[in-house]
Amino acid sequence: MSDDCLGPATAAATETEQLRMELAIAKRRLAEAYQMVSLGRLVAGIIHEINTPIGSILSNNQVILRSLEQLKTVLSAGEPPNAKAFEILETMASLAAVDKLACERISGVIRSLKTFARVDQSDVRKANVHELLTNTLKLTSCEFRRRIIVETDFGDIPEIECYPQLLSQVFLNLLVNAGQAIEGEGRITVRTRSDGEFIVVSISDTGRGIPQEDRQKIFAPGFSTKPVGVGTGLGLALSREIVVDNHGGEISFESEVGAGTTFHVRLPIKADRSKLTAAKPARS
Ligand SMILES: Nc1ncnc2c1ncn2[C@@H]1O[C@H](COP(=O)(O)OP(=O)(O)OP(=O)(O)O)[C@@H](O)[C@H]1O
Ligand SMILES: [Mg+2]
Repeated sequence: MSDDCLGPATAAATETEQLRMELAIAKRRLAEAYQMVSLGRLVAGIIHEINTPIGSILSNNQVILRSLEQLKTVLSAGEPPNAKAFEILETMASLAAVDKLACERISGVIRSLKTFARVDQSDVRKANVHELLTNTLKLTSCEFRRRIIVETDFGDIPEIECYPQLLSQVFLNLLVNAGQAIEGEGRITVRTRSDGEFIVVSISDTGRGIPQEDRQKIFAPGFSTKPVGVGTGLGLALSREIVVDNHGGEISFESEVGAGTTFHVRLPIKADRSKLTAAKPARS
């Protein structure tokens, strides 16, 4: 076969492969959006079921704490004060204080889930990126807890106009990648800072780093060095699409083999709506 014949055939094969990958990204995006909607509905139901009893436990707890204080006053008035009764009161008061903390913790987790799984993702709106990061970190913390220390170094940044749900997906992808790059114990650091009309979120890990020969490929859809079943190679492709096409931002990285990697996500504070692609698959 001559080169003339090979050329168009190769080009067609490349184009088919590219279309296949774009379809894979669109499918994953759809699947993730579907999951978020399902999760949103599920969480809304769970929140409703949990919030009411937690609310009543919290308010009863306040009454108990107040009653114990009153009981203490009543007992002190007695002659002579009963030492054993005081001891029991102290134990009850400290248990009630622990219950209060436990309830507040449950309420905090519920609030995070509520923000993360919010279904109103279709519009650009102002969002607090620190809140998005904190909520995403809470979701990854179970996976990281025993082997990875997570540090945050949050700067003074303004709220930004964005698709909060999609940005949470980007942060989740980057955090999961960072966690997967660390074998055994390590550290992940999440930093934020403002830079003129932009904010920058940097996620660093002390993982294995990205070898020189892979650096050109990591954003390509389908590129993965992970075993089948662990990685589909779409996380970074999707993240780049969300950052660049949906937000008019930039995503870049620096890496040192054996030392770690940092991904930087640069996002405009004010969305330029004329340039933004709506929150749907960018290439149709
Ligand atoms: N923090 C990191 N440290 C080292 N390598 C990384 C890091 N992030 C990404 N990579 C490399 O880039 C490749 C592509 O990442 P990407 O998130 O797109 O896919 P994946 O993680 O392999 O699979 P998926 O995210 O679809 O489950 C990874 O397989 C890995 O080789
Ligand atoms: Mg990934």
